Amino acid sequence: MEQTQAYIDSNKKRFLDELMAILKIPSISADSSFNDDVRKCAEALSKSLTEIGLSNVEIYPTDGHPIVYGEKVIDPKLPTVLIYGHYDVQPADPLDLWDSEPFNPIVRKTLLHPEGAIFARGACDDKGQMFMHIKAVEAMIASGELKCNVKFMIEGEEEVGSENLAVFVKNEKELLAADIILVSDTGMLSNEAPSITTGLRGLSYIEVELTGPNRDLHSGLYGGCVANPINILCDMISQLQNEDLSVAIPGFYDQVADLSNEERNEMSKAPFSHDSYCKSIDINDTHGEKGYSTMERGSIRPTLDVNGIWGGYTGEGAKTVIPSKAYAKISMRLVPNQDPDEITKLFCDHFISIAPKGVRVKVTPHHGGEPAVTPVDSIGYRAASYAYEKSFGKKPIPVRSGGSIPIVAMFEKELGLKTVLMGFGLDSDAIHSPNEHYGVFNFYKGIETIPYFFESFSKLSK
Ligand code: BES
Ligand code: MN
Ligand code: MN
Repeated sequence: MEQTQAYIDSNKKRFLDELMAILKIPSISADSSFNDDVRKCAEALSKSLTEIGLSNVEIYPTDGHPIVYGEKVIDPKLPTVLIYGHYDVQPADPLDLWDSEPFNPIVRKTLLHPEGAIFARGACDDKGQMFMHIKAVEAMIASGELKCNVKFMIEGEEEVGSENLAVFVKNEKELLAADIILVSDTGMLSNEAPSITTGLRGLSYIEVELTGPNRDLHSGLYGGCVANPINILCDMISQLQNEDLSVAIPGFYDQVADLSNEERNEMSKAPFSHDSYCKSIDINDTHGEKGYSTMERGSIRPTLDVNGIWGGYTGEGAKTVIPSKAYAKISMRLVPNQDPDEITKLFCDHFISIAPKGVRVKVTPHHGGEPAVTPVDSIGYRAASYAYEKSFGKKPIPVRSGGSIPIVAMFEKELGLKTVLMGFGLDSDAIHSPNEHYGVFNFYKGIETIPYFFESFSKLSK
């Protein structure tokens, strides 16, 4: 891969400039007022794929945002790597907490990124990481060192549940035929301790609405006599957790795959500092399920969290009312072998059952997703491990992540394909938050690491 690495080295500045142009497009999938920008971003990427020499480049329309596809088939007898990424981003809100414009990328130094980091929505999740693959493949094609077939599938709806991609995957099995799926949409422990993600949590997401009286009431005239839906909602939510901070929904843990002591022991070897963890998010202690470490709580254990709660009067000053309604959005992160539909049903039945008389409850499930684990003994994992070791000079540590990429389980179910999660982000990159950024070091390191994966994967596939 010498030619490839030399090519990367002499084109670095241009690669960064090209990424900046992609980051300028506000491709927010959740907000329909940005639909034109989402479309523009798909067009810009299809242009990129064409420019690097891919064939059959196409923008596939869906019932939602389009999917960008392109391929380089060198020889049908050679193994095929299907690269997946997403070009949609989360909304940039709250805008006033950004130190620079979310869609006007700038490079600025930080403590963890002394070489500079690119600040923009989507810099790390996932435009920066997805774009590394386009540039790595460009370098391999240009230097004649690409020894696998490559297919790209870049979607515009990951941040809203990938429902239309699931349909596309089911319908286009032939187009997507491959030997392995390669994704950079996760993180690693640190730039000094590279790691490969070997698991993702699933997701069940539910909105609840409590209705008490048919209108907001004077809290003096009615206070003490009727159920206040906000008081009741808080009480019901607090009942969803036990004292040891496990989830108090009957049946919730029935299918949870427990890890062996050996596996937990292995996990505990990953470097983790309680102090720097707390410091990085300005808390004075961690908090979570009894009997598990912070690393375990955030990866191999399922959780329940309120994501938002509202109701009643929240304007300036005081208004004495008992509200008619109260709402909350509640998510549960799931682990193997919890089924999102089953967990959603358990939640809904239980939540309705604990509601006292005097309120009515409505539950509305949102999109969910299945958890996934990836093997550490496969050709794909070994190729990824080789790649990180070659470019970082250190053997990567396998780590389970707490985040979710629901389509990964679908790839296995529908296409029978395993996924390799070669992420290069850091937890401190503030994905989904104000001031999201991606290290310039990480961007370049990713582009350099990916070709080594291809090199090793094609050798190990023989
Ligand atoms: N790239 C993230 C998931 C991720 C980030 C996994 C870091 C591991 C490490 C992805 O874009 C994401 O945000 N997924 C959502 C789920 C989706 C259904 C909205 C999530 O995890 O909340
Ligand atoms: Mn992502
Ligand atoms: Mn995301």
